[in-house]
Amino acid sequence: MSTVTVASVDDFRERVDQLVARHPVVAGNRYTAWFAGGEASRGEVRHLTVQFSVFSHLFVEAQLRKVINAADLDTYRSGKEILLNELGVVFNADRSRAAVGTDPDLVATEGTVDGGRFRFGAAHFEWLLRFAHPIGLGFDDVGKRRHGTAPTLHFCDELLEVYGAEDASIAEGASYAVEHWAASGFWKELIAGLEAFKARECDGLPLAFWTWHDKVEDQHAAHTDDELVEAYAQSWFDEDRFLAGAARMLDGVQTFWDGLWADHEAGVQR
Ligand SMILES: [Fe+2]
Repeated sequence: MSTVTVASVDDFRERVDQLVARHPVVAGNRYTAWFAGGEASRGEVRHLTVQFSVFSHLFVEAQLRKVINAADLDTYRSGKEILLNELGVVFNADRSRAAVGTDPDLVATEGTVDGGRFRFGAAHFEWLLRFAHPIGLGFDDVGKRRHGTAPTLHFCDELLEVYGAEDASIAEGASYAVEHWAASGFWKELIAGLEAFKARECDGLPLAFWTWHDKVEDQHAAHTDDELVEAYAQSWFDEDRFLAGAARMLDGVQTFWDGLWADHEAGVQR
């Protein structure tokens, strides 16, 4: 028998939101705060690009695992929305725009992949390749495990283990944490720094990979809010495992940014 009430799910959401908001990677990410100031050198922008490319490319593996391990058809389908969009299926919210091209400045940030069209050039990884090219990074320089530092690979492995976990409560906690971290403003900080870099020394650098993701994150966070309410009502749901999944995932995210901060302090460039 279900004992779920609106009050109990609201209380739980409050606990989760506090855990996320107080986590150092959300409350105070030293790397992105510094990066937003626009002081990063070309070598530091390249280093960020390579590490970010490894995480965002390997994220596809974690997203597939999340889909495979989904506890119900709704979660399975919402996981596929993210997975297939990541791989190049354009959301079909606005068919006229989808038909125009594959550039992230043009393609929709809302809608569904159901009935959407696959375009090679709409894969998020290809958007990142277009950003990487003007700063001298080619296909062979980005996106592979071998390009990742130890902290980056730790984060990727945590995504597979926690975000893609077989235990649905852990996986849901990790999803909630990842999406609320992503909606907490780090894209805007990176965009601010990249705009300064572009104006200073890289005219024409396409920032759409970054700006498209900034636009989409608010909806992802809203989706995980709905997912939390739904998951909370299920018999398998366990509050402690959800919170543990959220905390462990945020620790993984923090390892990634702390790695970049340590590299900045050590003067690592690429
Ligand atoms: Fe993406």
